[in-house]
Amino acid sequence: MDRVIEAYTDVTAEGKKSRTPAKLDKWLTASGVILALFMMGHMMFVSTILLGKDVMHAVTKAFELDFIFDGGVPFIVSIFVAIISAIFIVHAILGVRKFPTSYKTYIKVREHAKLMNHKDTSMWMFQWISGLVMMFAATIHLYIMFTQPQNIGPYASADRVVSEHMWLLYMVLLICVEIHGSVGLYRAAMKWGWFDGANPKETRAKLLNVKKLLSYFFMTLGVITLLAYIKIGIEHSDNVGEKYVPTSHSKVLEK
Ligand code: HEM
Repeated sequence: MDRVIEAYTDVTAEGKKSRTPAKLDKWLTASGVILALFMMGHMMFVSTILLGKDVMHAVTKAFELDFIFDGGVPFIVSIFVAIISAIFIVHAILGVRKFPTSYKTYIKVREHAKLMNHKDTSMWMFQWISGLVMMFAATIHLYIMFTQPQNIGPYASADRVVSEHMWLLYMVLLICVEIHGSVGLYRAAMKWGWFDGANPKETRAKLLNVKKLLSYFFMTLGVITLLAYIKIGIEHSDNVGEKYVPTSHSKVLEK
């Protein structure tokens, strides 16, 4: 019962201020940092298609641990997806607490942001709108990755993007995730004072620049990568379902 009182009022049954909201905020930051770092790695992995189909194929197989199990085991990717999904769900549940609970509250926050011309408040508004969009869009993507880990590769991924019309979902996700991630990291650094140093004001300006740089870099990389999958997907649209055979294998087959 005490815990229920704490959860709803931030005050314990004994009338003391509860530490629960602060603890939940720490878990929100921790899960967010893990997801942001994962997304940077994810973008690097997905963009290996820019280095060639063989490179992307080799990376995909490495995730299936083909250096241990001959030919790779796609189920290993499903386990990884399940772990990321669990962190994503925890982060979303903790984040929902921060949503305005009614239209009235939303209007108040919006007016406040406009009145103060306060960048950080506007950023916070983008955080929960993009978070809400991602709760739906990322769930679809994660479900497909979990149930079809065998369909990841230069042709299978490009077919999904073009012939299975995932490009639109990816475009929306890309915009949301890159901005949500960089804004999230910036806000977390500000909130917990990670890099405050001697001059917090100067640090804040520097952090804002790093945030912008991160957003631009990953957004550009994401768009170019998506275009590369679209190009391959269009070229491969008459052979949907055919799996990519790496150059080294096709040479062996030709002999
Ligand atoms: C372990 C979990 C995940 C795996 C294995 C994974 C894998 C992939 C793969 C293989 C692609 C290439 C296209 C395709 O095959 O359909 C892709 C694209 C993409 N994924 Fe994920 N993903 C994961 C989690 C996430 C999450 C949590 C998000 C965002 C919240 C996300 C956002 C995206 C976006 C935006 C693209 C398009 C990238 C681009 O613009 O080029 N993914 N993902």
